[in-house]
Parts: sequence; structure tokens; C-alpha cells
Amino acid sequence: MLWLSEKSKEMQATRDPDASPATPPAEWTLASWRERPARQLPTYPDETALEEALGRLAVLPPLVTSWEVESLKDELAAAEAGERFLLQGGDCAERFGDCTADVITSRLKILLQMSLVLTYGLRKRVVRVGRFAGQFAKPRSSPTETQGEETLPSYRGDLVNAPEFTEAARTPDPERLLEAYHRSAMTLNLVRALTEGGFADLHHPEYWDVDFVEHSPQRAEYEAVIDAIGEALGFVDTVASDGNALKGLERAPFWISHEALHLPYEEALTRTVPHCDGYFNLGTHLPWVGKRTARLGEAHVEYARGLSNPVGLKVGPQLAPSDLVDLAGALDPEGEPGRLTLITRLGADPVEDRLPALIQAMQRAGHSALWCCDPMHGNTERTEGGLKTRHFDKIRREVEQSFAIHAAEGSRLGGLHIELTGEDVTECVGGARGLTEADLKRAYESVVDPRLNYEQALELAFSVVHTRRALRE
Ligand code: PEP
Ligand code: CO
Repeated sequence: MLWLSEKSKEMQATRDPDASPATPPAEWTLASWRERPARQLPTYPDETALEEALGRLAVLPPLVTSWEVESLKDELAAAEAGERFLLQGGDCAERFGDCTADVITSRLKILLQMSLVLTYGLRKRVVRVGRFAGQFAKPRSSPTETQGEETLPSYRGDLVNAPEFTEAARTPDPERLLEAYHRSAMTLNLVRALTEGGFADLHHPEYWDVDFVEHSPQRAEYEAVIDAIGEALGFVDTVASDGNALKGLERAPFWISHEALHLPYEEALTRTVPHCDGYFNLGTHLPWVGKRTARLGEAHVEYARGLSNPVGLKVGPQLAPSDLVDLAGALDPEGEPGRLTLITRLGADPVEDRLPALIQAMQRAGHSALWCCDPMHGNTERTEGGLKTRHFDKIRREVEQSFAIHAAEGSRLGGLHIELTGEDVTECVGGARGLTEADLKRAYESVVDPRLNYEQALELAFSVVHTRRALRE
């Protein structure tokens, strides 16, 4: 299945400069994915309008820079070496309507609180990567949805269409590509301004307080962490004569990431830069290939393999260990430190059976990567009432098991990938407050996957710390 017309290929060729200094892998071009079978791409009714929108996108300024992308790769290399821990989190799908000060700062606050707990508990700096400022496209299990007599295209994320079940809402609209770019830019702008303005400074955890959680079950433990960190920082501030001891803690950045699903959008934001080889996706720091499109020889892997960015790969329970090795070889042929993050999303039950063989296959191939656990996507269930949910116990169990399995295999789990929100939603059941299925209807807002709420996310961070301590003892 070829996805775009000859005409759009020609248009692409004119955008792809011949005189580029790039040296991506053999036979790769920015447009080579177009010759491969592509899953999960929407069909636009008006291709000319799509091409026109992509042309406008391709000349807009990048959202991130190649220097930032290279710095993140260094950080991920340090995580691969055990010197950092990766925390990657945010919404399953960002909505255009979520581009508000409240939603953005609440999400930042919970990620900062989690990273504080992890930094303190694991005694490692945390690489903070948001699933935001571009996480607008969603893979779907079916291209269409039927309600009653009517069948319409599935909702594929705000990048493509709208969730309401009407023909107008579900028709893919290319103007949304521009809207997504602008909302990503606005989101990133606030995140950068807050981080650079000192909001993320470990000296001021009070900035991250969320008023509705005064009675959170984790409050006492969290406050003990804040006190201990406050004392440690005070001590270092007092004895450090050069003022450099804490350098980086005040302004440690937030990186952005999203699934590189909508390849025409990704391609339009993939650029060459002066004085630096290769093609960079400058619409995000860390693009990842999702489970449904992680196939050798197909379009998404073809696109990602030629990037100079670090890339993530979702690893599901059906992926054979030998296929993982082949995918790693395609995406990271040189075994470059920090280049490849393997995000396993196996499920609390299958993890015990599947993960050891995946780790062993990579070890036998002599291919190292950063291993990260996504305990969300293998643990999605439907309630009797038809709502998607996840049980906190299973999420915690998959994380605990993944740590233990890596340790037993002589490997290392270096990161956590989660879907969360800083809001007080009720989408996942369980956790210290014991949310039940009956509670779900109270504040269920997700149009796609259920997210951890603020308290559950903090509880998970503590659970990571407790698990690691138990393994060391
Ligand atoms: C996701 O991360 O939202 C997602 C769809 O994950 P996966 O590709 O692992 O199913
Ligand atoms: Co999801």
C-alpha cells in the first residue's frame, strides 16, 4: 500500500535539498518511508489541501533545536549507563482544549513532584521527558467506528479529526496539522518559561503544590522527602565554595516527546541544520515508534531510522525477541549510546514470561539500549459499563516485576513511561484511596486511555523507590 500520490512525492523531492550535508543510513531519504507500507495514516478527502497545509508547515520555525536533541541523547546515554533515571509522562492524547495554563502547569507539577521523589529515592538525577507539546495523534484498532446504522472514520487524535460522532467532526482536516503545531509551540513556550524562570528549582518545591491534594495519602511521605532535600540542599549551599555544586538543578530542562505516528506531519518538521550532519525531527526531542507501527520494512520504522534524534520503540507482548533485535539493528545500527530507548509495555501478567527472553536476545546480539517500563498499555481493561480502565495494582506490579527481572538478567531498568494528568480525574481504579469502578463516572475525562491521577502518580513514584530499595537490600 503506497500512501501518497506521485504529485506529493514530487513536492517532497523539491523540499528535500540535494546539497544537504546529511549522512543518514544508506538509501534513506526523508521521503523513503513513502515507498513502504504504512499503517495508521488517515485518508484525507482533499489531497491538495493536505499538501498545501504540509507545505506551510514545512517552512515554519522548528519547535526545538538540534543542540537540545543532542543534549537529550547524552542524558539518555547517561541513563543507559545507570547514572540517570528517565521519567517520561503525560497524556495519552493531548487535546487542543488542554492548551491552558491550568492543565499545563498541573501536569508539570505532578511530573516535578514525581521526579523529586525519584531523584531523592534513587539518588540519581532524573531525565524529565513530557508526553506533550505534540502528542496529538493516536493509533486506533479499527479505522472506522459504527454506532447504530452509521459508520464513520475513527477518532485519530486532535491532529487529525474530532471525537464527536458526526461526519463533519470525523472527517480528517489538514488545517488541524497547523493548529497542532501552534498549540505545541504555545505549550512548549510556557513549559520553557516556567522551567527557565525557576519553577522547576529543587529549592522551591512549594511552587508545585496542588491545592486539592492536602489530604493525599502520600502527603506525609512526600513532605518528609521535601524536608530531607531541603536540608541536603541547605548543607551543600553552605559548604560549596564555588557555587557549582548544584549547577543544573535549578534549570534542569523538560524535554518533549510524542509518538511519531502521522508521518507527513513528522516529515514536515524534519530538517537539516548547518554545521551538523543528519536529519533532525525538530518538532520534538524524542519521537517514538508505537507498538502498532513497530514493523521492520514498514513506513514508521523507515522514517525513524534516518533521524539523528534519540528514538523510542514500544515493545509489546507479541513482539518476538528476534524481531526486537532486528528492529534495534535498523533503528540503531551503530549501537550509539542514548540513541534507542526500548519502552516495554507487556502487562503485569505476561511480563514475567516475555521480558527475560527480550533482554536475553538483546544481550546475545551485544546490543545495548535504555530499557524503560510503560506499565500502562499492557494493563488496559474494560469495565462492565464499557469504560476503559487500568488497575493501579497491576501497574505497580508490572513496574516491580520489570525491575526484578532486569536485575536477575544482569540488565538495568532505567526509566518509567506513564500516562498521567495533574488533574483530579477518576480513570484508573485502585491506589491508596481505593478508587472503585463505581467512582469512575465521577471525573472520567479521557477520550482515549485512562490516566493516573495526581495521587496515583505520586504513589507510583514512591513505589518505584521502595522497589529499588528492596532489590538492593
Ligand atoms: C500510547 O503510548 O498511547 C500507545 C498507543 O501505546 P502503544 O503503542 O504502546 O500501544
Ligand atoms: Co495511551
